[in-house]
Amino acid sequence: MSTRVQKKLNSGFSKKPEPSEILAGKELSGKVAVVTGGYSGIGLETTRALAAAGVKVYVPVRTPDKAKENLKDIEGEVIVDAMDLGDLASVRGYAASVTDRESKLDLLINNAGIMACPEARVGNNWESQFAVNHIGHFVLTQKLRGLLLNAGSSRVVCLSSIGHRRSDILWDDIQFESADYEKWTAYAQAKTANALFALGLDMKYRDQGIQAFSVHPGGILTPLQRHLPNEEMMALGWTDADGNISEQVAALFKSTTQGCSTTLWAATSDALADTGGLYCEDCDVSNLATQDSPRFCDVAPWAVSEEGAMKLWELTEKMLAE
Ligand SMILES: NC(=O)c1ccc[n+]([C@@H]2O[C@H](COP(=O)([O-])OP(=O)(O)OC[C@H]3O[C@@H](n4cnc5c(N)ncnc54)[C@H](OP(=O)(O)O)[C@@H]3O)[C@@H](O)[C@H]2O)c1
Repeated sequence: MSTRVQKKLNSGFSKKPEPSEILAGKELSGKVAVVTGGYSGIGLETTRALAAAGVKVYVPVRTPDKAKENLKDIEGEVIVDAMDLGDLASVRGYAASVTDRESKLDLLINNAGIMACPEARVGNNWESQFAVNHIGHFVLTQKLRGLLLNAGSSRVVCLSSIGHRRSDILWDDIQFESADYEKWTAYAQAKTANALFALGLDMKYRDQGIQAFSVHPGGILTPLQRHLPNEEMMALGWTDADGNISEQVAALFKSTTQGCSTTLWAATSDALADTGGLYCEDCDVSNLATQDSPRFCDVAPWAVSEEGAMKLWELTEKMLAE
């Protein structure tokens, strides 16, 4: 299996830097970004930080009322339009509307996601976590590729998760047609797909100016956990019986602002200027996981496999053609 060299750069940031530390000294005015899910949790803070730095930020939204409320105090230029990643006609329409208004796109942050939800099917009977987290972003990126190329030098950041370490792509049963649906395996598969998509994009387009990275943002309490009953959060050691956050979570988890810092680092760091396709965590490139890796860091070989990236790319194109 060929993988990119996944090795920490020792970028010099603490484990929990704030966005202002990551963007200090960066000249970003005049840049244009799209941030999917940029109105909740980590995405909202990504939008806030980029807009404050002078970036024009497009935020596609599927829940307009929530977006209006959450984005109301953001300073800077934020443009909100409807899009549902589970509805590919709306994804294509959204990309076309951005293409009508802009001549280039400097940053695409594929941040939106769903986690561990009950089994649901979208599009062509696709499993919903794979479809929303991966296929929707695959189509959005392909449709915005012309704008990314026009920028001359652009970056795409795909939100993966340490959860990817639970599963490779289920190559023979991606849609859970044979095996029973298991919500965490489905999330892991989708987050592996996010990392492989960033690698595949970088392999195909870096020489034309598009770099791509994947990111584990850390553990952050956000509406992402909406499908987890408190009993499950207790079993994970996150909460007590009354739903209060445990000391373990307080120590290990990041705030939502800290949670967007690795995204911002991957989107802007000069240390990444000559590379791409890498999986990042804690504002640094991640190490490749070994049997001795701690449970909550490092990247599994299958999520940075060049063969896996090309195989997933071809399979996704095939699914879209059916
Ligand atoms: N929080 C963590 O600990 C953690 C850890 C590892 C990785 N991540 C990754 O980080 C990313 C952001 O997560 P978060 O914690 O910030 O979660 P969040 O607060 O739930 O935000 C997710 C965003 O994605 C949007 N979204 C979901 N389904 C969509 C769809 N079909 N079409 C368009 N937008 C859709 C949501 O919109 P609605 O609000 O309208 O549903 C929301 O704005 C996710 O990709 C997640 O997998 C998070």
